Amino acid sequence: MNKIYNTIVEKLPIPQANLIKTYADSHNPSFFPVELINDLRQNQTLEELGIALLPLASSFAVTPTSNFNVGAVVFDSQGNAYLGANFEFANTHIGQVIHAEQSAITNAWSHNATDLALLVVNYSPCGHCRQFINEVNLADNFRIQLPKKTPQPLTYYLPDSFGPGDLNVAERILGGKLADTNEPNTNKLDVVEMAKWAYKKSHAPYSQNKSGVALQYDDGEIVIGCYAENAAFNPSLPPLQMALNTRRLQGKDWKNIGRAVMIENPTTLSQKENTEILLKSISDVELEYIKTN
Ligand code: THU
Ligand code: ZN
Repeated sequence: MNKIYNTIVEKLPIPQANLIKTYADSHNPSFFPVELINDLRQNQTLEELGIALLPLASSFAVTPTSNFNVGAVVFDSQGNAYLGANFEFANTHIGQVIHAEQSAITNAWSHNATDLALLVVNYSPCGHCRQFINEVNLADNFRIQLPKKTPQPLTYYLPDSFGPGDLNVAERILGGKLADTNEPNTNKLDVVEMAKWAYKKSHAPYSQNKSGVALQYDDGEIVIGCYAENAAFNPSLPPLQMALNTRRLQGKDWKNIGRAVMIENPTTLSQKENTEILLKSISDVELEYIKTN
């Protein structure tokens, strides 16, 4: 676990700090199941607990360019919580960044959450994030909570929105057909099989340029990343970003990659080059690229 996380846990009220320390010792420190959330809450509302967890979320930030750490916590409608933080990459272009809101949302996706009920974030979400959120399967009562503000629905932050409906797309991130299917066991499948799973789970209803990435780390562990396409195209999140985000949020070294596999349906588009550029900025490992047809 990163040192900042441990220091920040100590600043929470003692009962909460003890619960999180015990849990994070043997579990993913960025995913808090509903049982833990209920124990942590005491007399707090979900919004208040989310605000209290923001410093913990932002401890995962990687910000070589801005030194500006953003934290986000999302809750699904079952009450499970997923943390996220902004993740900047040095030695490549600025557009490869993952925003804290995208980080928390893809964390929820990686845990197979099927919707979002609440997003808590410490700064006002930028336009790009508002558009990214508009692609997600949101519960009817979905709201956004900022510090010292009243919770508001997405329509407050994104009025007159452009979204999937304008392109006659019904599918949403977290709401896909595979949303509630259990992920294959990473201990049983190899890195290519995991990339195939990521490919299947990816969301590309506009271009059909589906893609998935699987990274095998030097400790033997595998993480996957699924492409998350957006109706407005630019706010799409490429698959390598999600894989790196998942690893980072496990509190583990995210650079010691042993193998990197990408599977893609190339159509008229391809994310191969962009993925290679980001991978090269982190590691000497060559991208193993597989086309689906
Ligand atoms: N950032 C977020 O993470 N979310 C937002 O919506 C606002 C901006 C990050 C991106 C970049 O790493 C840094 O804050 C400065 O823009
Ligand atoms: Zn943003």
